[in-house]
Formats: sequence, C-alpha cells, structure tokens
Amino acid sequence: MVTTLRHKLFKKKPKKSAFTLVEKAHFTFLLAKALFKVLRVQQGKEKLRAAFIDFELLEFTELFIDIGFLIEEAQVYYNDDAQKIESNQIIKHSIEDLSHSRFDVVFGPDKIDLQYFAKSLKEAMQEIKYYNFRTCLNVHKLSILTSLVYLIPDNSSIVEVGSYKCGTTILMAKLCQVLNKKIKIYALDTFQGMPAATNPDRLDSSVYDTGMFMDNPIEEIQEKIDDQGLGEFIALVKGDVAQTLTHLELNNVSLLFLDTDQYKGTQAGLNFAKKLTNNPHIIVDDSSLKGVSQAIDEFTQDFNAYKRHNLVTNFDYLFAPK
Ligand SMILES: C[S@@+](CC[C@H](N)C(=O)[O-])C[C@H]1O[C@@H](n2cnc3c(N)ncnc32)[C@H](O)[C@@H]1O
Repeated sequence: MVTTLRHKLFKKKPKKSAFTLVEKAHFTFLLAKALFKVLRVQQGKEKLRAAFIDFELLEFTELFIDIGFLIEEAQVYYNDDAQKIESNQIIKHSIEDLSHSRFDVVFGPDKIDLQYFAKSLKEAMQEIKYYNFRTCLNVHKLSILTSLVYLIPDNSSIVEVGSYKCGTTILMAKLCQVLNKKIKIYALDTFQGMPAATNPDRLDSSVYDTGMFMDNPIEEIQEKIDDQGLGEFIALVKGDVAQTLTHLELNNVSLLFLDTDQYKGTQAGLNFAKKLTNNPHIIVDDSSLKGVSQAIDEFTQDFNAYKRHNLVTNFDYLFAPK
C-alpha cells in the first residue's frame, strides 16, 4: 500500500502548534472586540466593567483598553473548578460575588459565552461550502454582525435589505443552525441589479447605479441556499424593497441589516423599522456614502429614540433602548 502524504495528514492526529493557538487567540480576540463594541452601545457606557469566568481570556485584557474596557483588580471568578486558576498574582473570587452593581458584563458559560460563540462561528465557517460563498463584508463587519446574531433572542427574524449573492445571509443562517437558534432570515433584493441612483446618491464620488450587482439570479441563489442545507432558515424576497417592504408583515424582527448602498433602499429599510414596535437592532453598511448617510440622518431626526454609532469604518449601528 502506498502511504501518501495526504493519507498521513488525515490519519495522524494533528499536533497543536503554536500557530493554531495564535490563530485561535486572534479569532477570539476579534470577536471579543466586536462583542464589546456592541455591548457598550447597548449599555450606553463609555467603558464597560467586565468580569470573566473564563480564565483563558485574561491574556487579552490589556488590549481592550482602546475600546473602553475596564477591568477591576479582582477579575477572575471561579465556580467549583478552582484548579483552573494557577497564577498567584490574580485575586480569585467565588462566583457568588458577581453582582450587577459591580460589573456591566459577565462573560462565561451560561452568561455571554464568548468561547462558545467563537467555537460556533468557527464551526459555521468550516461547514460552509467555500465555492458557494461570496460576502461583500470584511472580517470586522462580519464580526459585529455575527455578534448581534449571537445576542438576539431565539424565535425572532432578521431582515437583510440588499442581499446580493447571500454570502452574509448564509453565514448568519449557518451560525443560527450551529447555535440551534430558530431564526428566520428574510433576504431582500431585486436579484436583477441596482435600481437607478437618485440625487442624494449622486452627491458622492462613488455612485452605485443601474447595472451593478446583476449576477445574482434568484434561482441560482436559492440553489446555493438549499445546497448549504439552509432552506428552512432563509426566505428570499424578490423586488424593489420600496415595494416589497411595504407588504412584509413581521412582528418579531430583532435585527435589520441594511446594505443597499443607496438612499432609496436605505430609506425603505428605515421606514420599515418605524412600523416595528420592538425597536430592532439596525446595522447599516456603507454608511458613509452620502445617500445612505442622509437616509440615516433623516431617520434619527424623525425617530430620535434611535442613536447612530459608528462601530467600524463605514458600518453603523442604530440602537434604541427597548
Ligand atoms: C452591496 S450589495 C449587498 C451585499 C450583501 N448584503 C452582502 O453582505 O454580501 C447591494 C445589493 O442591494 C441591492 N439593492 C439596492 N437597492 C435595492 C432596492 N431598492 N431594492 C432591492 N434591492 C436593492 C442590489 O441589487 C445589490 O444586490
């Protein structure tokens, strides 16, 4: 029998290398940073006081300072597994000491479980068939969006306004599948390219106009979604969102993701938000485009429970307390 390299690679248990540890740390840190940004907005705080039940995270703590992270001297808490904590420089407290008056956020199993979120997202990414996957978002934007998907309640809906090839939709849906969350994602697009730009869009040097994003026929996108085993998580809605959103009757929307790159599409998404009584989380991509930005400003002036927060370049979070 010929022992090929491939055979060896797949038979041998891979050794944990320094590289994989660093990679894991980076990935978790990226998500931790995104979660912190989102939670800071939700709690209306400049800085968050956080407690960790999970010891592994301590290596990141000093890096959080730039996003308003604050850690108290007694930062590590333990349950019964006191063995986990070895360093004598860290003050240990019993888990019963955790109180909301002392901390804004508590990370750990059965609270906001960063390790579980990171593990689930990694699994979701590994399960997605790469040849079938195309998202327009960079890794920083994806980490914010997926943090929200992790945080929103079960049995609710996400509406994506402008979904193109549904790469982001597929990632969000796969994450819900892995997390065992019953979330329905409504992915809205013309599936025939951009409508014509209007005057507010033309104030910008980059104008998204008719003829762009045309290579996403709905039949092909539906096939991709079925191929990924996500049929029950995603519903495609075809047409100009200025029309389709007026007919979409949903009362459990927890997250609206607006990504049309145009004034009209963004305005239609925000008008839809006005009809929802539960103040869903709203994320707007390409928020510094003049047309998109104008639609956001008109919305927040009109509907001032919502405040606009820039979390990543060109990526805004509109948040209103429940
Ligand atoms: C930047 S792409 C969306 C990218 C996608 N959200 C992602 O993360 O990969 C913008 C999409 O918005 C759609 N779009 C723009 N205006 C629209 C409108 N008024 N109605 C429906 N779709 C629209 C375009 O057809 C295009 O596919």
